[in-house]
Formats: sequence, C-alpha cells, structure tokens
Amino acid sequence: MIKRWSAKAVADRPPSSITPCLVPSGLMLSEKGNTMRDTTKTIAPATPDYAAIKRRQQATWAAGDYAVIGTTLQIVGERLCDAIDLRAGERVLDVAAGNGNATLAAARHFAQVTSTDYVGALLDRGKERAAAERLPVAFQQADAEALPFADGSFDVALSTFGVMFTPDQDKAAAELARVVRDGGRIGLASWTPDGFIGQLFKTLGRHVPPPAGVKSPALWGSEARLGELFPGHRVKASKQIFNFRYRSPEHWLETFKTYYGPTNRAFAALDAVKQAALEADIVELLERMNRGGKHTLIVPGEYLEVVATKQ
Ligand SMILES: C[S@@+](CC[C@H](N)C(=O)[O-])C[C@H]1O[C@@H](n2cnc3c(N)ncnc32)[C@H](O)[C@@H]1O
Repeated sequence: MIKRWSAKAVADRPPSSITPCLVPSGLMLSEKGNTMRDTTKTIAPATPDYAAIKRRQQATWAAGDYAVIGTTLQIVGERLCDAIDLRAGERVLDVAAGNGNATLAAARHFAQVTSTDYVGALLDRGKERAAAERLPVAFQQADAEALPFADGSFDVALSTFGVMFTPDQDKAAAELARVVRDGGRIGLASWTPDGFIGQLFKTLGRHVPPPAGVKSPALWGSEARLGELFPGHRVKASKQIFNFRYRSPEHWLETFKTYYGPTNRAFAALDAVKQAALEADIVELLERMNRGGKHTLIVPGEYLEVVATKQ
C-alpha cells in the first residue's frame, strides 16, 4: 500500500515548532565532511526519531514551490541518464523525483519511467511537464525509505538531489538496491560537502540548527560514504558542476527564499534581526563564489555523479 502523507498539519504549525528540521538534516559539517555539534548545548539522542524528523522535512519540501528551482536543474538529469548509459525500454524508477528532473530526462529517451516523491504537489508538477511533452510516465506518491515495489522490479533507479535528504541513509540506500535487479544500475547526483550547496547548508545550519543525531545529506556526495551505503556494488563516481545562473546575488536570494523549502522555512523561523544576519552570510557566500563578474551571477555548484552497479 502507498503511504499518504498529511503535510498540512505540520506546515500550519508556527515556525518555532518546526525549527529543528528546517535544514534537511545534520548539515553542520567540518572541513572533512564530519558532523560538528556543540555538545555543550545539544545532546544527540541515541536513536533519532526518524519518523518525526521525516514528517517535518516533508512539510519543508512542500513549502515554497520547489518546482521553480527543479526546472533549472534539468541538465543534471540529462547527464545522469548518459552516465548510467540508459537504454530505450528500460524500467526506470525516479526516487524523490520532485517535479521530474530525472523522470523527464529518462522518458525523453523512451524508458518506462515511474516517478515517485512524498510531496504529491510536486508529482503533480511533474505530471504537467510530462503531459506537455506527451511522455507516458507513471506517477506514484512514495517514501524513499519504504518503496512500494517488489524486489528487482527496475533496471535502473535514479535520484537527483533527492534520496540524499532522507534521514535514515542506510535504509534509503538499501531500498534503492532492493528494487533494482541484479546487474541493474543506481544513478545518483548529490551535492558535495564542500561545494556551493554543501556550504549553503553549513551556513543555514549556523543560524537554524539541524536535528540532532542525523547524518549529513552531503555525505552522499562523498565517495567513502557511498562505499558503505552500497556494499557489493561496483561504484563509479565523478565530480560534476551545475552552474547556478541568476541575475545577481539578490535575485538568487529572493528566488531561494520564496521557492526553495529549506531556505524558505529557515527564514520563516527567524526574527527580522536574525533574518538580516542570515541574508548577509548567504550574500557573502554567493559573492565569494560568483565567477560571473559584477553584472550577473554564475556560481558553480559541485556535485557527485554516481553509478552503482548491483553485482
Ligand atoms: C532538492 S529536491 C530534488 C527533486 C528532484 N529530484 C530534482 O532533481 O529536482 C528533494 C526532493 O526530495 C524529496 N524527498 C526528500 N525526502 C524524501 C523521502 N523520504 N521520500 C520521498 N521523497 C523525498 C522532496 O520532496 C523533494 O522533492
């Protein structure tokens, strides 16, 4: 049975009650990508309450309108289909698909695609895109940590900047491995700890602390962790760049404050003074990383492109 999520109850709470999960999960990182915590203030519980964390994260992704951002990332899905050497007719599962980045890319090359996410409204946006291109895609609401599919049902599973945000990383990786047949491929795109988005989350984490006891999503962007997540797989990884192209740092900030759930909710949780401090830190990061000169913004966003083949 497919799990249905009620985001509304959580989304309607005052910002203070959702603060601990605004940053997708444990995103305060040291230079080596390990989680840093101020243990004088926070004692991580032995086992985090994954269900509660996930409910709050789900409300965070439902905030704003992620589809606006997702559309700009389309090239990543196209590249990933090439990296996994997609064949027409293959059964492809897109996990945490948002509004259909990898979904559309695979369907354009005649794969049989099932697109899943736990935010129904984002799947609806993917549906609109597929309909506009006359692409026959199946859409199904699903939790990446409990995929409602039989073992070995797919030739390929893909996730662009999606599965990396699940709180229980081992469970999510095991689910990807389970639904892919022997010899099948898992294709992932994940922001690296030291790249632009990795640094953005460190910045957000300094202003709005992430939930205790949960591993950083950016670990999916490190080769060492992938070896642990996919034992018994042949793992190939390469660093890639997605260029964020915006009119200015202010344009980027306004877009992400309005549409990108984690940034949108982080600002909503802060008072005016703290919002100004967060804004200043983000603009400083953008200006430091901008390679576009004075009149535009081009920020290289490093991510790890991964193909794990099930042996
Ligand atoms: C940054 S967006 C990426 C979306 C899309 N793959 C893309 O490349 O644009 C992260 C997505 O992961 C989804 N997500 C996070 N955790 C999930 C989970 N446990 N189950 C299903 N979807 C999840 C969110 O709803 C959101 O759509």
